[in-house]
Amino acid sequence: MINRRQIMAGAGALAVAGVAGRAWQQGLLGSSHPALAAWDDWSRQRQAGALRLVGGAVLAASPHNTQPWAFAVGRLGVDIFEVPGRALGTMDPFGRERLAGLGGAIHNMALASTALGRAARVRLLPDPQNPQHVARVLLGPDNSGPAPHRLVPFIGQRHTHRGAWHGGALATAKVKALLDFPAFPDVRVLLFEAASPRGQRFAKLTGDATAAIAGDAAMMADSHRWFRHERSVADVQMDGLTLATSGVSPWLAAGAALLPAQSADSEGRYWLAATRDTHLPTASLFGLILTPDPHDRRAALLVGGAWQRLHLNATAAGLVAQPLNQLPEIIDRQVQLRQPPAFARAVDALLDDPAWRPSFAFRIGTADAPAGPALRRPVSDVLGPPARLAWEVEQWREAGGAF
Ligand SMILES: Cc1cc2nc3c(=O)[nH]c(=O)nc-3n(C[C@H](O)[C@H](O)[C@H](O)COP(=O)(O)O)c2cc1C
Repeated sequence: MINRRQIMAGAGALAVAGVAGRAWQQGLLGSSHPALAAWDDWSRQRQAGALRLVGGAVLAASPHNTQPWAFAVGRLGVDIFEVPGRALGTMDPFGRERLAGLGGAIHNMALASTALGRAARVRLLPDPQNPQHVARVLLGPDNSGPAPHRLVPFIGQRHTHRGAWHGGALATAKVKALLDFPAFPDVRVLLFEAASPRGQRFAKLTGDATAAIAGDAAMMADSHRWFRHERSVADVQMDGLTLATSGVSPWLAAGAALLPAQSADSEGRYWLAATRDTHLPTASLFGLILTPDPHDRRAALLVGGAWQRLHLNATAAGLVAQPLNQLPEIIDRQVQLRQPPAFARAVDALLDDPAWRPSFAFRIGTADAPAGPALRRPVSDVLGPPARLAWEVEQWREAGGAF
């Protein structure tokens, strides 16, 4: 006869087997992660020629890791196209953040071109007939370019850090290093200490904006669509946000991965708490990227380029960074809903000149360790063969029919 102890032991074994099965399913038992291979491809220089530009571009930041891009590669350069379907809906009702992500990818391409030794010319929005053709990077002949840019090695090391940081002021030299980049037309960067009166106002307003977004069911549902809880989904989609990059410790992320996915509502509550208790109080610096018209497509691309550059500079200086875009997002949402522009007015208190509007907000600081990599679609998944053909034909015509 089976006794009580045997039944308990059997139930225990079944529970262990169940947990182990779930851990296996969620990729916690050491299997390789195909959705992270793009980082390795870049650092091991697996792409050659113009494809290397795409290898760097796909590692750029993008809102909710939507990766809203497609590329066409020819011998003479690379075209990058917006993919409007990779959208955040009510979180980004005018596609402003999508364009910022594309601007970051374009900036990475310009940096990556220096690793090829070929001079590069970037034309933003080169085709008035096709606004989704956001840039063309024209490459000169071999040995026509400058030496590899100092930031090229950091393209594969830049990761958004959502954890608890050390706080406190940064050395002046580090702050100076952050702002070391060429002028972006119509873009200004404002940095201020988290402990300063402006920093405190930023923290209060960002907390309020987070609460407003967390209470907006449509925004949370649109945000939730880009959360990849199941490893099987992450492996196929290779985009979106995951527990591993949410800022919690690896042990907590692993434990949470064993549980069923959170609802959009509980995600909102967690995010609000993390913003108020961790992101805002442990930052050293806050900052805003400003432009006179955030909805101008060209300006939105340049804002994204400026963020990519700032984050690369931060990485090179041993600092960590995280966008905190709740304020620009809720400002756009209030415009979409035709509500009184309460947040747009409140933000004036942070600005020296209210004619320059915030299009990107962030925090910078120091942490014990860098953040890990986020999912990425590899180069092979973002190339559009028909566009590539068009590019070759067009270049062939531009060159008078002969290469
Ligand atoms: C326009 C834009 C807005 C973003 N807003 C936020 C944000 O508000 N909070 C956040 O944690 N990350 C934000 N991010 C960072 C992205 O989520 C991140 O780039 C993406 O998940 C890929 O991860 P990685 O930057 O580590 O490669 C934003 C990025 C961009 C380009």
